[in-house]
Amino acid sequence: MPTNSAPRAALDLQVVDHPLAGHKLTCLRDRDTPIALFRSTVRELGRLLAFAATADLPLASRAIQTPLAPMQAPWVDESRVMVVPVLSAGLPLADAFCELMPSAAVGHVGVYRDAQARPVEYLVKLPAPSSSAATRCFVVDPMLATGHSAAHAIDVLVAHGFPIGDIRMVAILAAPEGLDLLGQRFPGLRVHVAAIDQRLDDNAYIVPGLGDAGDRMFGTRH
Ligand code: URA
Repeated sequence: MPTNSAPRAALDLQVVDHPLAGHKLTCLRDRDTPIALFRSTVRELGRLLAFAATADLPLASRAIQTPLAPMQAPWVDESRVMVVPVLSAGLPLADAFCELMPSAAVGHVGVYRDAQARPVEYLVKLPAPSSSAATRCFVVDPMLATGHSAAHAIDVLVAHGFPIGDIRMVAILAAPEGLDLLGQRFPGLRVHVAAIDQRLDDNAYIVPGLGDAGDRMFGTRH
């Protein structure tokens, strides 16, 4: 296991510490979990991750009238939140965020891994910039393995003018190698995960992990 001097120590790393998160992760790790349950569980765990990752969202207040009295009530401007799934495995996690924040904008970064597990971009589609641009961007990808795809997606956002301080990385599982890369590239980045596993194997899969998240969600096979 890397020590505190590992580059990942530079991250603001938050591991969701909740019995239900551990329970749902076990369901995802089990190779006998069928596709429908795998998919719904990714979304359920995604909601728990979204809950944790949004804990410091800027809160405004708005004047409302309850049935009994007027009051100033807390309010999140969801339209200033952007969720960016790394395609295609990030889509169910983005759905989970949008279940909690239905007015959030959604951008897409499409990346596939080449034979050396390096990211190759095939699509970038971000919401049009406006005067009320997003003030919080959640990059979501279930597996933070080598970290190259996540780093690529963050680079895309920064190149489009989103401050690194407004960007959060959210993954179900992370490998120390991927966290180290993000720590080197983006010191101070806030990263939310459900667990950190032992290592990557020779094919850049997380061990013990849960296998190929995209294949298990979409029924594909590499
Ligand atoms: N992507 C996956 O889906 N699984 C891994 O273990 C690593 C990357």
